[in-house]
Amino acid sequence: MKPAFYVTTPIYYVNDVPHIGHAYTTLAADVLARYKRLKGFDVFFLTGTDEHGQKVEKAANAAGETPLELADRVMKRFQSLWEKLEISNTDFIRTTQERHKKGVSVLFERVMEKGDIYLGEYEDWYCTPCETFWTETQLIDYKCPDCNRPTEKLKEESYFFRMSKYQDQLLAHIEANPDFIQPKSRRNEIISFVKEGLRDLSVSRTTFSWGIPVPGNDKHVVYVWFDALTNYITALGYPQEGGDFEKYWPCDVHLIGKDILRFHTVYWPTFLMAAGLPIPKKVFAHGWWTVEGQKMSKSLQNVVEPNMLVDKYGVDAVRYFLLREVPFGLDGDFSHQALIHRINSDLANDLGNLLNRSTAMLGKYFGGVLQTPGEESELDKAYREKTVAMIEQVDGFIDELAFSRALQAIWEVISAGNKYIDETAPWTLAKDPEKRERLSTVMYYMLESQRIVYTLLSAFMPKTAQKGLSCLVGSDEASAEGLAWGGLKPGTAIAKAEALFPRIEEKAE
Ligand code: MSP
Repeated sequence: MKPAFYVTTPIYYVNDVPHIGHAYTTLAADVLARYKRLKGFDVFFLTGTDEHGQKVEKAANAAGETPLELADRVMKRFQSLWEKLEISNTDFIRTTQERHKKGVSVLFERVMEKGDIYLGEYEDWYCTPCETFWTETQLIDYKCPDCNRPTEKLKEESYFFRMSKYQDQLLAHIEANPDFIQPKSRRNEIISFVKEGLRDLSVSRTTFSWGIPVPGNDKHVVYVWFDALTNYITALGYPQEGGDFEKYWPCDVHLIGKDILRFHTVYWPTFLMAAGLPIPKKVFAHGWWTVEGQKMSKSLQNVVEPNMLVDKYGVDAVRYFLLREVPFGLDGDFSHQALIHRINSDLANDLGNLLNRSTAMLGKYFGGVLQTPGEESELDKAYREKTVAMIEQVDGFIDELAFSRALQAIWEVISAGNKYIDETAPWTLAKDPEKRERLSTVMYYMLESQRIVYTLLSAFMPKTAQKGLSCLVGSDEASAEGLAWGGLKPGTAIAKAEALFPRIEEKAE
């Protein structure tokens, strides 16, 4: 039986349309899912939309729609963007679906039955955009400490979750599992937060109605974060504990942005502890994208729309850029110039050119038919070893979610390929009939190394990998067996490759 692997993205609010921030998390999850599938795992990759809460209700009112009409419309935009970006998710959950609502009610009820949810009264400062309550001391000039927007004082009857009860258990869990919260700086941040003391958490609202009713008291709706976080198990069929739930839970990794770390590493694990369910194995928080040096915002009208990027530059260029440009975990800046630069230098010059030149040479010197390699020289050996070492390096980097380092390791082999051609100078070998065997070896090494490169690239750039592999092996499917030296069979016909990435003119600003 294949080992199971479960990866999730956050579920996206439907009051906003998708932008590169959303695309980023989803792309990272997709690369991980594709890579694990390639390595033989049975992958469940979940994404979806967060459709309840005051924020969505307000946006729907402003648009003159019901919240569900708004959700139906916006979730389609997410789904069509995921198709366009070649996202290979297994499931797409919407929090308005029956399967989800049922699971949330059951979880809430179970925690209540245990005595860890109780009825009380709440008075505090509420930030609607963040759906978060703050104490007065946490506010900065009466504004939300997270987003700097105005807060309002709210008093309401509320159900509370006894989060304080789980403080020690949570801390012990974080300390015993150094990989649970990543990167490390984020882990330290959460440890300090928990050590400051956990308060009981308000987990219901009465001031609006767009949500899941609290079981047994429908004056209240379940707090949107209790509702939303539960998606990670309702998508697996919870409360039914067999089937997918048994197979995939606990989750291998929740990929999220740094702004929603506390919800995933404090709220979510303590809810699960109260319900007696296992805790996710890992939560990884990535950084935020700014645009040309500025925070992305509707008011600045600088929101980068991924559909437009894909139409302009192609899906794989966008996939490559977002994961290559910035180390996963750090903040980064998006600019068209940086993207064009990556396309021209890494994709057109390095990757595309190597395939193009090497297949052209095979055509010219051997009529496009791969020959049996002869004796291995020192130069060949170094190139082969570098290629084989890359397979392990990429595996390690992907396990650490260091996507940009994984790509860097692949590009080092691509550069080594271009250098190998310059050093072996096939055009000189071709002039000497005595050097036919040497020329055959050089051709074989050049193309075989690239076959492995494209097999690994299938996780990052599926279309490009398909083109590369169909050119080299006549089948566009990457497989784990392909991750070993010697896959190319002598006698294979390999036609000259088309240019994979045409250069883009860099316009002076
Ligand atoms: N609905 C909640 C998540 C619930 S998960 C149980 C939510 N949704 S969101 O649509 O506002 O944000 C989703 C993700 O997009 C977050 O991980 C957030 O970090 C990410 N990003 C939003 N803007 C971003 C950037 N500018 N850059 C990178 N990621 C950003 O929060």
